Amino acid sequence: MSVLELENIRKVFNRSTVDEVNALNGVDLRIKERDFVTVIGSNGAGKSTLLNIVAGVFPPERGGKVLIHGHDVTRLEEFRHASYVARVWQEPEVGTAANLTIEENLSLALMRGWRRGLRIAINRKRRKLFADALSQIGLGLEDRLGTQVGTLSGGQRQALALVMATISTPSILLLDEHIATLDPKTAQTVLELTDMIVGRDQMSTLMVTHNMEIALRYGNRLVMMHKGRIILDLSESEKNRLDVNDLVCAFSRAAGEEFTDDNVLLSDVEAGP
Ligand SMILES: Nc1ncnc2c1ncn2[C@@H]1O[C@H](COP(=O)(O)OP(=O)(O)OP(=O)(O)O)[C@@H](O)[C@H]1O
Ligand SMILES: [Mg+2]
Repeated sequence: MSVLELENIRKVFNRSTVDEVNALNGVDLRIKERDFVTVIGSNGAGKSTLLNIVAGVFPPERGGKVLIHGHDVTRLEEFRHASYVARVWQEPEVGTAANLTIEENLSLALMRGWRRGLRIAINRKRRKLFADALSQIGLGLEDRLGTQVGTLSGGQRQALALVMATISTPSILLLDEHIATLDPKTAQTVLELTDMIVGRDQMSTLMVTHNMEIALRYGNRLVMMHKGRIILDLSESEKNRLDVNDLVCAFSRAAGEEFTDDNVLLSDVEAGP
């Protein structure tokens, strides 16, 4: 069974105003258990909007459907999505609380999807769970459970955000350019951690990146978005045969065909009866 099914997902922002945007124009996507999908596409293609729909930040337009493990979650509130969807954002500040300690942040992460709010219960068993999870990322954070997160570096904070997102093994992990603000070396470290954790917990993952090389090298499937649509969906074997140049060509071709379609439509209209 698919972990995630998106059917005819559309999203319009600022409807009926001069700022109206069709951010998503009918996206269909099925993600299998353990799929690790990299998502690329130009600015404004609709990648983050798609992740927001999966995370339940807002629902799609009527007619669209979001199924997780076969259950229709299209209209569920965001906090209800939190029990099976976890996310790491581009900015380390968004996913972690600066004025709380590492263990307090992890406690909150563990309670994700609960309604109780901010009751932070830390006992010995939990502390061990946190230390074990942190020791696997190899940054020494397990010895710093009482450290305020605001004092960590961006890379350490993003690695922590990753551990927080995955500590209760969600069904779906959403990564939205989560290494984009890090320096190249730290980005590589966090990327390798991501690959390790996704593989270890066999999590179904959507990872948005602007880096085509990374999109080709990681995961078992590659999706390319353009103007609110999926214009390319490559399997692992197709992906392995391509290099960055091929991908750029594939993009131009797929995007170009779309324009050609529009032109055909337009010329039909203009030609009249
Ligand atoms: N909350 C919002 N209100 C109004 N318009 C929005 C909102 N969120 C996104 N949009 C618009 O929807 C379109 C898609 O945005 P989205 O953030 O999904 O793109 P993206 O593919 O993530 O781009 P980037 O690579 O720049 O992050 C853009 O035109 C954007 O301006
Ligand atoms: Mg985005």
